[in-house]
Amino acid sequence: MTHHLPSKRRLLGKVAVITGGARGIGAATAKAFAENGAYVVIADILDELGAKLADSIRGRYVHCDVSIEGDVERAIQLAVNWKGRLDIMFNNAGISGPEGSITNLKMEQLMALLAINLNGVVHGIKHAARAMIEGKTAGTIICSSSSAAIMGGLASHAYTLSKEAILGLARSSACELGVHGIRVNCVAPHGVPSEMLMSAYRRFLGNQNLQPEDVSKIVGEKGSLLRGRGGSLEDVAKAVLFLASGDAGFITGHNLVIDGGYTSASNQMSFIYQG
Ligand SMILES: NC(=O)c1ccc[n+]([C@@H]2O[C@H](COP(=O)([O-])OP(=O)(O)OC[C@H]3O[C@@H](n4cnc5c(N)ncnc54)[C@H](O)[C@@H]3O)[C@@H](O)[C@H]2O)c1
Repeated sequence: MTHHLPSKRRLLGKVAVITGGARGIGAATAKAFAENGAYVVIADILDELGAKLADSIRGRYVHCDVSIEGDVERAIQLAVNWKGRLDIMFNNAGISGPEGSITNLKMEQLMALLAINLNGVVHGIKHAARAMIEGKTAGTIICSSSSAAIMGGLASHAYTLSKEAILGLARSSACELGVHGIRVNCVAPHGVPSEMLMSAYRRFLGNQNLQPEDVSKIVGEKGSLLRGRGGSLEDVAKAVLFLASGDAGFITGHNLVIDGGYTSASNQMSFIYQG
């Protein structure tokens, strides 16, 4: 009997740039891409972490502040100079931004957040699309949105606004770029214990010793339809890998929500399913 094992090398020879790839979701995705045969450029502002990770996956690291258009352009240029093409762009860099009441929102803080979370994605789509069109590469672009873009009350006002805007931009870009065979999609993670989420929870709960397992447990209990099952960095990396691969060849303009169903249904009234 012949066994048809799925090929592990789903991105063999593909060239990818990952912004915010030094740690968290971006780093988990960089590893998954490399394990699947891709050449990965990590673009971040955490130079030491980023360079170390790039070395370990035989990738490249470039210092890139996504709020600066020229930095993003240079990161993409590095990929093109290195391997002659760009197949995958993961616009993942983001920050959590100012918390507190809308009545106290400081406009300069909002603008500073948008410069990274939103302009960073605009820069990424713009220059990745240029490189892909020029190189006649039917590439794929993936952007990090959030469950906060779907349901209110999950993050700060500024962050929520930025993540919702990304969905609109990804859809309009998918519309324009489809003619070149370029797919543009989003992922919307929820409650994944990265540094970003851990530092927010440590502040909210006033507990500096909080560990990722503790946050997973809270999310699994309160923020997931799959009781007891919170999300992990790898859950998101696998979803991004899918969207980046040919398996998602007919999927564009989509937002893949990775939230254990949390934003799809409220289980407050699940008693109606008893009996
Ligand atoms: N963790 C979650 O639950 C969750 C949920 C929804 C969305 N997201 C999104 O996922 C993405 C990754 O976040 P994470 O959770 O892994 O957090 P993280 O803080 O661990 O990673 C963010 C990465 O982005 C980098 N970065 C920040 N500002 C940058 C800039 N100006 N230029 C370049 N790089 C920059 C950081 O150095 C870091 O490596 C973000 O866009 C975040 O909004 C995360």
